[in-house]
Amino acid sequence: MKSYNIALIPADGIGPQVVEAAWAVLSKVAGQSGFGLSATRFPWSCAYYKENGRMMPADGIETLRSFDAILLGSVGWPAEVPDSVSLHGLLLTIRKAFDQYANVRPHRLLPGVDGPLKATEFDILCIRENTEGEYSGAGGRVHQGTPAEVVVETSIFTRRGVERILRYGFEQARRRRGRLASVTKSNAQRHSMVFWDEVTRELAAEYGDVAVTSYHVDALAARMIMAPESLDVIVASNLFGDILTDMGAAIQGGLGFAASANISPDRSLPSMFEPVHGSAPDIAHLDVANPIATIWSAAMMLEHLGEKQAADRVMAAIATATAKDIGIRPGKDKTSVITAAVLEALD
Ligand SMILES: NC(=O)c1ccc[n+]([C@@H]2O[C@H](COP(=O)([O-])OP(=O)(O)OC[C@H]3O[C@@H](n4cnc5c(N)ncnc54)[C@H](O)[C@@H]3O)[C@@H](O)[C@H]2O)c1
Repeated sequence: MKSYNIALIPADGIGPQVVEAAWAVLSKVAGQSGFGLSATRFPWSCAYYKENGRMMPADGIETLRSFDAILLGSVGWPAEVPDSVSLHGLLLTIRKAFDQYANVRPHRLLPGVDGPLKATEFDILCIRENTEGEYSGAGGRVHQGTPAEVVVETSIFTRRGVERILRYGFEQARRRRGRLASVTKSNAQRHSMVFWDEVTRELAAEYGDVAVTSYHVDALAARMIMAPESLDVIVASNLFGDILTDMGAAIQGGLGFAASANISPDRSLPSMFEPVHGSAPDIAHLDVANPIATIWSAAMMLEHLGEKQAADRVMAAIATATAKDIGIRPGKDKTSVITAAVLEALD
């Protein structure tokens, strides 16, 4: 029997609740589909940081390397550990170490879920560059705390980085409805973003079957609200993709529905799957976290592992659970009630 080893990193706040919900669904669908899944849980989190002075052990990356995939909850407990420490110490370290350069986030309304827009039919796949650009971490401060203080934060765009994320976007568009929106701000940022547009045009010549349009990020943001049904695949830099996908989460009914995958496309290193949301400290002890985003992320993990049928079963179960006939109420119903509805729908 085929079997997969999964690293679970529940981390902080609502992370443990939503990861256990997703694991229950994964275990059930694996049993139904005839493949094995085994979980190894890692306690890496802000609590771990408080005890050990670091978010994960020094050999954490080596430990994760042999796993088939990683399922992460959410990282951050800002009351005790600064976000810049927790984010860089765990999430960003893993994304960079395993070259998970494609951050993939689907945005569509599930049956029975009300979004804030008039449009109810849209199906957008957002591809965000995940390893460089505006979040490269290059920069510094001098004369700190004085009137002469200078702060520099430099975006880094490499040909390798830009070309591979655009190529990933073209490939996804080819598999879907054949339309790609490439996002820049090349009217204002005349070096990096003009370069991004150039590489987009170079690749467009190779992908004659994909209709590509270059948008400025502000215009694309407006389009996501006014005409989301006109969009298929969006490809954007780290910062633009980060912001656009939070908007995508909003139009699909909220962060509790927004799934994501950090893909290492050459498959020699593990990819990581996680909800878009954070640790939600405001509801962390209330058992009302919506687990759908994490369960959807787990379905993306199954698809990445090659278990497409099982992934489709999970997505169908989610849709049955959110549809009006079962009538779960994310945001109001307990995490356990929503999870039970998805598990029941798997039958
Ligand atoms: N990928 C990650 O691990 C990640 C992403 C974003 C934020 N964070 C971290 O999480 C912490 C809190 O950040 P924040 O408050 O800005 O963002 P957040 O996503 O944790 O919460 C924003 C709002 O959405 C709600 N929410 C989030 N997920 C929900 C769910 N599944 N069900 C119902 N409601 C949900 C929260 O209650 C809150 O009101 C910070 O430490 C931040 O750095 C981590």
